[in-house]
Amino acid sequence: MKVGVIGAGQMGSGIAEVFALAGNEVKIYDVDRGQLDRALKNIKWSLSKLAEKGRVKDVEEIMSRLHVSEGLSSFQTEELVVEAVFEDFNVKAKTLEEVSRRLSPESLIATNTSSIPITELSRAVWSPERFLGMHFFNPPVLMELVEVIKGDSTRDVYFNKALEVVRNIGKTALPVRKDVPGFVVNRILFRVFNKACSILDRYTVEQVDWVAYYDLGFPMGIFMLLDYTGLDLNLSISKEVAKRGLKLNCPEVEKLVANGKRGAKSGSGFYDWKERPRIERVQGGPSPKELIEDAFREGLWLIKEGVATEEEIDKGTMLGLGLRSGIMTMGRRLGLS
Ligand code: CAA
Repeated sequence: MKVGVIGAGQMGSGIAEVFALAGNEVKIYDVDRGQLDRALKNIKWSLSKLAEKGRVKDVEEIMSRLHVSEGLSSFQTEELVVEAVFEDFNVKAKTLEEVSRRLSPESLIATNTSSIPITELSRAVWSPERFLGMHFFNPPVLMELVEVIKGDSTRDVYFNKALEVVRNIGKTALPVRKDVPGFVVNRILFRVFNKACSILDRYTVEQVDWVAYYDLGFPMGIFMLLDYTGLDLNLSISKEVAKRGLKLNCPEVEKLVANGKRGAKSGSGFYDWKERPRIERVQGGPSPKELIEDAFREGLWLIKEGVATEEEIDKGTMLGLGLRSGIMTMGRRLGLS
């Protein structure tokens, strides 16, 4: 399959890698040529890591399937284009308008937005019946889940095709048939982030992260994960969801971003990332129940609204966030109901 990826940041480069790894020819584009060079370097590093573990045989062969594009106008014959540009409605809408204008009306167009409803973005897309959300988790090459989101205009034939594409790249699809801001897994994660931020007057970053890691089975601490996904991205997500009624508030993230600390990619955030930080055992900290009770309630809201079932929320949080057990199961075990 010929695939296009627009945006070569952490997510775009990871998505391009996943498609190339699964045997597809991939064209990748970014307005910033330097970003494209960094993306190719990161993909090569990641593939070499997978080769060390026997998951990849020939790094160069996979790299040869990745092609750098010189401009949006070069996307014409792709069967699938995934947009992964900056998390801002206007930037995404402009990109989608431009690329959908040239592609054949049968090509599938997907956005990797973390927060913006598909139906809103679809208004910028030519032939919006072939447009949907394909939401990957960072790092795409290691995280098994992809949420596939249907907008009001998405036709079933294209939705089913997207589910098949996700299976063909070896990932597990979580079909999301009701288009709410943040979809399923991120809505849960936003509540965890928000709760963690709101208790920083009582606990330290290290205390919160230790409880998340040790008691709740998160693969990394909550603040470490904020750093890892990018504080600037998280700030943009908060702004987009706030416009749509979901208020998230983390003044610490705003302060760090204002000081140029964008998390792992900039070398510092809540943690210093010159070397990969480790979670340290510390005393004290919030109760595990306090940390996830809002997330659990968000899960109940998703169920009530018919966005996802309890099983899907559990599966999504395990495969998208690497939790040892799903958030709903975890909440019930801690006495939430
Ligand atoms: N490609 C290949 N290998 C990679 C890699 C990549 N992109 N990233 C890390 N690795 C390798 C490491 O180099 C390391 O290799 P060695 O064993 O040779 O040292 C190995 O994987 C294990 O990594 P680490 O020791 O660094 O740490 P880990 O065991 O904690 O695994 C992790 C890393 C998979 C990222 C894990 O911590 C994890 O699952 N974290 C949670 C990630 C998560 O929640 N993602 C979703 C965020 S939300 C989102 O993305 C949605 C959104 O819209 C914002």
